[in-house]
Amino acid sequence: MTPTDLERAIDEAASLITAPKHVVALVGAGLSAESGIPTFRGPEGIWTKHGEPDLRDYERFAADPKSWWEQRIAGAGGLGELRTALESAEPNAGHLALREMEESGWLAHIITQNIDNLHQRAGSTRITEIHGNRTRLRCTRCHARWPLDEFPIDELPPRCPECGGIVKGDTVMFGEPIPKDALDECVDQTWKCDCMLLIGTSAVVYPAAQFPLDVRRLGGKLIEINPNETPLSALAEVTLRAPAGQSLVRLVERLRDLRP
Ligand code: OAD
Repeated sequence: MTPTDLERAIDEAASLITAPKHVVALVGAGLSAESGIPTFRGPEGIWTKHGEPDLRDYERFAADPKSWWEQRIAGAGGLGELRTALESAEPNAGHLALREMEESGWLAHIITQNIDNLHQRAGSTRITEIHGNRTRLRCTRCHARWPLDEFPIDELPPRCPECGGIVKGDTVMFGEPIPKDALDECVDQTWKCDCMLLIGTSAVVYPAAQFPLDVRRLGGKLIEINPNETPLSALAEVTLRAPAGQSLVRLVERLRDLRP
């Protein structure tokens, strides 16, 4: 995309965002790429390099949660490269732009597939983390959540103080159903949405990839921000073919200009 084409697309995106009443961002790993966190797919993707985790991960946890906890405490498993990147990452210009969009009333909600907690650290507040948050624990029965460092682990597996359910990391494992409260919120936001921003997601993982299809079916518009094409590109009204940080900063500048 030439710089002129990109500027034109930013103008179109800004007019779409100011026109509808309820704008939702569906975010993927591409947004955090500029914070140094690798994406999953693509040439340097974590799954491309190491293979996708086993779909039986959650089944194994459910069968023997004590062992899962013992391994977690021993620091076994997981991908060191990803863990190191997550631990040192800071919110980038794209996260900050989304916060400004929320504060200024241009963005109603973020549905993020990212588990890195960077939206919160950037100051966004209306967020649904469809794949959980690595800094939290969650009760598998009642979905109560706690910051990791505020939950005393006195027994393995730990139990929910409210309902006695087994507690696990909040990050959704391969093969694990999306927690009902998060899924319900995503569906509600999708139904309300007039315009969905697709930011840095390959749009191949369901149910997240279904939300933009539903927005379109219900008459809403899609704006894609991604340097690469995705299966949803053909459905997008406007495409910003550039990194998310740069695109979102320019988009916010344009939205400020349009402010009455
Ligand atoms: P993917 O790795 O599948 O896709 C990342 C997308 O980001 C690609 O479309 C890239 O083109 C794009 N991208 C790369 N750099 C970018 C940049 N600077 N700005 C904007 N876009 C950029 O990541 P997700 O779509 O998030 O789930 O993957 C969805 C889920 O698959 C993840 O949440 C994870 C994974 O399995 C679980 O672990 C449960």
